[in-house]
Amino acid sequence: MGSQGRPLLNRRLAEFGTTIFAEMSALALSTGSINLGQGFPDTDGPEEIREAAVRALRDGRGNQYPPGPGVPELRAAIAGHQQRYYGLGYDPDSEVLVTAGATEAVAAALLALLEPGDEVIALEPYYDSYAAGIALAGGVRVPVTLRPADGSYHLDLDELRAAVTPRTRLILLNTPHNPTGTVLTREELAAIAELACERDLLVVTDEVYEHLVFDGEHIPVACFPGMRERTVSISSAGKTFSFTGWKVGWVTGAPELVTAVRSAKQYLTYVSAGPFQHAVAEALRLPDSYFTALREDLRGKRDLLVDGLTEAGFAVYRPAGTYFVTTDIRPLGFDDGFAFCRALPERCGVVAVPTAVFYDHREQGAPFVRFAFCKRRSVLSEASARLKALGPA
Ligand SMILES: Cc1ncc(COP(=O)(O)O)c(C=O)c1O
Repeated sequence: MGSQGRPLLNRRLAEFGTTIFAEMSALALSTGSINLGQGFPDTDGPEEIREAAVRALRDGRGNQYPPGPGVPELRAAIAGHQQRYYGLGYDPDSEVLVTAGATEAVAAALLALLEPGDEVIALEPYYDSYAAGIALAGGVRVPVTLRPADGSYHLDLDELRAAVTPRTRLILLNTPHNPTGTVLTREELAAIAELACERDLLVVTDEVYEHLVFDGEHIPVACFPGMRERTVSISSAGKTFSFTGWKVGWVTGAPELVTAVRSAKQYLTYVSAGPFQHAVAEALRLPDSYFTALREDLRGKRDLLVDGLTEAGFAVYRPAGTYFVTTDIRPLGFDDGFAFCRALPERCGVVAVPTAVFYDHREQGAPFVRFAFCKRRSVLSEASARLKALGPA
């Protein structure tokens, strides 16, 4: 339906009609399939943190509008976390902002920092909200494609350098990277930092999988020389504490950057998730053992699903981080991830997503399919067994 002869959805958003996740999740329900499509855990985070949320609700902490930048306890805990894990010192009052998940943080950063026509370099394939956020801000996305080789995905630094033009405003990074599971190395990050300084670019970095690294290490790009003052760092509680429904995220950065992002954020949600903010403040102060156990549990699940997929005949890109694994379906006799994923529930009762949805250059992602492994071990074992029964086409 349209009005005045125009489509209802504006031109900026026209290409973002419906997401593949909605279609695939509906398919999972109607076929009773195991849903390894969408990335949410099938068990909730720590009991004590849920109790902390209940206590906050009962005690009337956060039931009314919390302060615009976030409750002071949470801002202090975020600053404490950045210091504890990365040695990055942030002032909780001027350098920390609480958002409605990392998604709002990314959108607010783009809306705040871009003028229409500004170019944004992003690592392709990318999380779907990036393209929409850039479009909402009137920006122009410039994908730099991570290339699969030798069992993992790689950034070509020459391609990245070549993508910078006089219109480039910022680089939108994501490490650990969804969907490829790539964790950018110290050398890669140093080169990106050098480029950003040399060309006077801002960097917005989405680090929601910061604690889910199995090989290598996560280093925030803000740690590199010259980067603290030009980097908007983003993370959230969803992945680290297995509460994706709470939508508590945050931004850290130099005061001018945080102020700019807050200017956009205040007209999106203003504030959100009051009681959950108090609970996440406690979560961020959990002992190291919590973070280690989370990582080790997911490492085991990664290995379980990677083995299952390999035995089923997929070519598997073993992820160094995140809770996603990318596979190549060509050894199974297919080359179209969309057709493969649409048929998979009927064929064996498992749902996955075609990686092509994360690309501008769709052809680059055509034969790849993403599975999530943030599920109970019994679910992953059952999915593996079903996939093994698949056999060649
Ligand atoms: C790279 C990336 N960023 C952000 C998000 C969403 O974070 P939040 O739920 O905190 O908005 C996701 C969720 O899948 C993600 O994969």
